[in-house]
Amino acid sequence: TILIIDFGAQYNQLIARRVREASVYSEVVPYDVSIERIKEINPKGIIFTGGPSSVHEEGAPKCNPDIYTLGIPVLGICYGAQLMAQQLEGSTDSAEIREYGKKAVKIGKKDSLLFKDVKNDSIVWMSHTNYIAQVPDGFEITATTETCPVAAMENTDGKMYAVQFHPEVEHSQYGKELLRNFIYDICGCQGLWTMENFIEEQTKAIREQVGDKKVLCALSGGVDSSVASTLVHRAIGDQLTCIFVDHGLLRKDEGDQVEEIFKNRFKMNFIRVNCEDRFLDKLAGADDPECKRKIIGEEFIRVFEEESSKLKNIDYLLQGTIYPDVIESGTKNAAVIKSHHNVGGLPEDVDFELIEPLRNLFKDEVRELGEELGLDHDLVWRQPFPGPGLAIRVMGEVTKEKLDLLREADFVFRDEIAKAGLDEEIWQYFAVLPGNRSVGVMGDERTYDYTVGLRAVTSVDGMTSDWARIPFDVLESISTRIVNEVPHVNRIVYDITSKPPSTIEWE
Ligand code: XMP
Repeated sequence: TILIIDFGAQYNQLIARRVREASVYSEVVPYDVSIERIKEINPKGIIFTGGPSSVHEEGAPKCNPDIYTLGIPVLGICYGAQLMAQQLEGSTDSAEIREYGKKAVKIGKKDSLLFKDVKNDSIVWMSHTNYIAQVPDGFEITATTETCPVAAMENTDGKMYAVQFHPEVEHSQYGKELLRNFIYDICGCQGLWTMENFIEEQTKAIREQVGDKKVLCALSGGVDSSVASTLVHRAIGDQLTCIFVDHGLLRKDEGDQVEEIFKNRFKMNFIRVNCEDRFLDKLAGADDPECKRKIIGEEFIRVFEEESSKLKNIDYLLQGTIYPDVIESGTKNAAVIKSHHNVGGLPEDVDFELIEPLRNLFKDEVRELGEELGLDHDLVWRQPFPGPGLAIRVMGEVTKEKLDLLREADFVFRDEIAKAGLDEEIWQYFAVLPGNRSVGVMGDERTYDYTVGLRAVTSVDGMTSDWARIPFDVLESISTRIVNEVPHVNRIVYDITSKPPSTIEWE
C-alpha cells in the first residue's frame, strides 16, 4: 500500500489513481490521520498531496511530524513539499507572483533515484505561491526551475523526498516515471494490484465472510450494483438473491435488458418487481423536483422492504458503494443543489450486515473489474443515469403518456449518437421533455405539440461540464428522426449551457 495523506488537494484522487495505474494499491486518508492508524495500514510509502492552504497561515493543515521518523519513505508534493520543509526546520517563503503552468525542470543531481529516466529540461506543471527557500538539514536540492530555487529536494538517508511541481497531472511529461520511481525503486513495491488478483482475493474474502448464509442485493442495472452482484455471485452463487425494482422510470427496453443479463445469462436468483403503476400513483400531482426525488426514494425503500420480507434467512445486504463515495463523504460544506440520494440507497437502520466489495475501487477500476467478470462492454461503460430516472427528465408532473414519449425520443437520440460513433466521447446524453407545447406544421396541418430538449455534455466527474459540440449533420438527423418517429413532437431544441451555471439534468 501507498498511503496518500490529503491536505485538501483538488486532485487528491488523481494521485491515488496514478499509483493504482502503476499496479500498486493506494489509499487516501485525511491529514490528521494518527500514527497508530498509519502503523496499522503499514504502508510501503507515503505521499503528501498539495492543498489550497499556505503553510504560513494559522490553522493550516499539518500532519503529525512523527511520520518522518517511521522509516517509511515520504514524498511531498507542492503544499506537502513545503510542509515537509517547514516541519523539518528548513524555511519557506512567499513569492510576489504565483509560479503557474508549464516549466522546464533542471535536474541538479544525476543519480537521484526519484529522477531516474526523467529528462533534464522536461516539462513539469507548477502551481504555487509559496516556495521552499532553504532546505532542512540533511537535504540536498535535486532540481530547480528558472523561477523556483527548490523544485525538488531529497534526504536519501531519511528516505524523504519532495517536489514542488505536480507529477500526477498529465502536463508533467515524466510525472508517471517519477511516481513509479518513488513507488518501485524507493518504496520497493511490487505491483501486485491487478483486477485478476482482486477477484481472487475478494472471492475468498466474501466466501469466508458469508459462510453458508444468504445475501440480498438491490440490483438497479447501473454499473456499480451490476458489478458488485456479478462478483458476489461468482463467489457464492445461489446464496445471492437480487431484487430489481422496476419503477417504470427507466429508458426504453432497459428493464428487459437487465433481466436478460442477470436472470437468463448469469442465471442469478433474480426477482423483478414491476411497479410502474405504483410509482405513477405516488407521483401524481407532484411537480417539484425535490419532492419527486423524495417520493421515488421512499417508495423504492417500501417496495424493497416488502419484497425482502418475503424472503427467509437473509443475513447480509450487498451494496455497490465505491471509493469516491467513501472519500467524498468527508466533505461537508457544499450547498445542497439537488439531493442526489441514490434511489436504491437503503435506510441505514436495516437489520442486515453490509457487504461492500467495491468499497476500495475507483469507478474506472469497477469498470475494468466488470469486464474481467464478463459483463457486457456496453453495460460496464454506460453513461451515468440518475436513480429517479426519467421522472426528473419530464419537467413537472410525471404521466405515463409523457414518459412513453420521452422514452422514444431518448431512444432515437442515443441510437443516432451511437451510429455517429460519439457514444464513448460524450460523457452523458439524453432527451428531456420540458412539457410545453408549440405550434408547428406537418403536411398541410397545423400541429400543437411537445418540444423535446436534447442534452449532451462532456465532463470528467459530473461536477462541472461543457455542452458537447455534436456535429450539425448529426443533430440534423436526430431532429428529423425524432419528429418523424415520435408522435406529438414538433420541435427539437439543443441545450448549449455549461455547468455551472446550468446543471446537467434539467431538474
Ligand atoms: P446535475 O444535474 O446535478 O447532475 O448536474 C450531475 C450528475 O448526477 C446525476 N444526477 C443524479 N443521480 N440521483 C442520482 O443518482 C439523482 O437524484 C440525480 N440527479 C442528478 C446526473 O445524471 C449527472 O450525472
